[in-house]
Amino acid sequence: MASVPSLAATVHQRVVDALSAALPEAAGADPLLRRSDRADFQANGLLALAKKLKGNPRELASQVVGALPSGGENGEIAEIEVSGPGFLNITVADAAILRTLAARYEDERLGVPVAENPGRTVIDYSQPNVAKEMHVGHLRSTVIGDAIVQILEHQGETVIRRHHIGDWGTNFGMLIQYLIEHPHELDHASDSEGAKDEGEAAMARLNRLYKSSRAVFDSDEEFKSRARDRVVRLQAGDEETLALWHKIVDESKTYFQGVYEKLDVEIRDEDVVGESAYNDDLMNVVKELEESGVAVRSDGALCVFFDDVKGQDGTPTPLIVQKSNGGFGYAATDLAAIRDRVGTLHADKLLYVVDARQALHFRMVFETAQRAGWLPEGAARQLPFGTVLGKDGKPFKTREGETVRLVDLLDEAIGRATAVVREKSEKLGLSEEEITANGEQVGIGAVKYADLSNSMTRDYVFDLDRMVSLQGDTSVYLQYAYARTRSILRKAAEQGAGGPVPHPELALAPAERALGLHLDEFGETLSQVAETYEPHKLAAYLYGLATLFTGFYDQCPVLKAPDAATVENRLFLTDLTARTLHQGMALLGIRTPERL
Ligand code: ARG
Repeated sequence: MASVPSLAATVHQRVVDALSAALPEAAGADPLLRRSDRADFQANGLLALAKKLKGNPRELASQVVGALPSGGENGEIAEIEVSGPGFLNITVADAAILRTLAARYEDERLGVPVAENPGRTVIDYSQPNVAKEMHVGHLRSTVIGDAIVQILEHQGETVIRRHHIGDWGTNFGMLIQYLIEHPHELDHASDSEGAKDEGEAAMARLNRLYKSSRAVFDSDEEFKSRARDRVVRLQAGDEETLALWHKIVDESKTYFQGVYEKLDVEIRDEDVVGESAYNDDLMNVVKELEESGVAVRSDGALCVFFDDVKGQDGTPTPLIVQKSNGGFGYAATDLAAIRDRVGTLHADKLLYVVDARQALHFRMVFETAQRAGWLPEGAARQLPFGTVLGKDGKPFKTREGETVRLVDLLDEAIGRATAVVREKSEKLGLSEEEITANGEQVGIGAVKYADLSNSMTRDYVFDLDRMVSLQGDTSVYLQYAYARTRSILRKAAEQGAGGPVPHPELALAPAERALGLHLDEFGETLSQVAETYEPHKLAAYLYGLATLFTGFYDQCPVLKAPDAATVENRLFLTDLTARTLHQGMALLGIRTPERL
């Protein structure tokens, strides 16, 4: 594992050194080096600096140029000029690009360093609700959460995953009471006939239980009160009640696992720590909050008030920790979970990948935990995501106004992708198994990429036609770029065309330089993405990479290059592109078929 400094970092350092050599007062100033269209890099920072030092920016720029090590055989900087009001335009040497990339190529991690001070993060994501369907909101939480886990772990962070599933609360009183009164409800297979698998069958049974118990709950006051008593017994640990609760939870977990498998996401059973897991701590939460005065009784309920949280009529909206009937809700379990994550798991960061519509809940929960001394300031953060919309721009629903089942969407995506794959498969001579496997990888990749390539907070339209399109910013486009790299490398081997070898003595064509400089930015992109929790920036980087590779492929023949050294050098760029795409897409949870 050898971390390789990027050319941007090296050039940045050279300019910083030159700056302090030329002007000791400027030591430590940031030259603000950026990639640029005019040269490879442009430094704009001298303008502000000259202003601060009351000097002339162009003069300062020339002094810096004078202090830079000039060219030389091993120098990174090939050309530097002062432009405009005092910018520095910097062009790096072709040889420097190839030498840096060669060092990346030698390293399994492509020269990407691990973070200097990795911490311990608990991430709360993919938290569906027991006895209910998974919908597109759960898709977002799962896909975004999984990508963030992979990216953080790749940076060396210790990541503890928590799936805070909805497995506790009033609904369970209703479901269990109904089961007690209709003992064979979950055994009935009639609804599960025709279900595609074990999970689907379980969900069909749960759906029926949910619907029938809801109907009685809404219409029969006496049943309602029996259901409420049942919750109390559940929370008190009554055995018969718990046994039925387990049955319901297990059925649901079977279902969830089926969906996760289809979605190609690994969710481990030991990380599923639902609301119920905190039951035993809820009394302590209440006691401590009440004793410390953080929470107060109001109409019998235990509440926390906030100066800036008010309803429309101006009356304060409290966070309710315990209801007046003694029951605990969503807030209580979240508070107990914070105590566990900070106090027992010793996390220094808590992340919550949850729908933006729960922002107020988390604001109040975090503030309460801080007041109680359970949570250091700034340690917890919700990573809120936007709503998935239908083509009509409204929250995604079926024509009947019901929530769309996640599995149905995934199946449809796989179906469409398989059609796309099949169309192209003949030329490649793909077997039926390969078509099926590719269809799954392309379909699921399309759904994940559409989700991850948008900034997380934005709503996005779920449009399968666009998602599986070969043109534009789609995963299929990236997957094709990857498959093309692999096909070139296979052909090279078949034709005995030599292997991927960098040749720093060669001059690079513009498309090669552009591709090379972009390849060199992978590590910086990853560390930025890990710092800001923005997977869409990794998606944008990979799309940029695929686009540059396409340009390179169009302009620079690889196997038909004029001489053997150029063939090897281009194979080298192709192989490094392949590895970078593969690694980057894996971090987003997207597979890269070898032949497409
Ligand atoms: N189960 C909830 C839902 O489906 C999400 C839970 C989010 N996590 C949490 N710690 N509250 O909306």
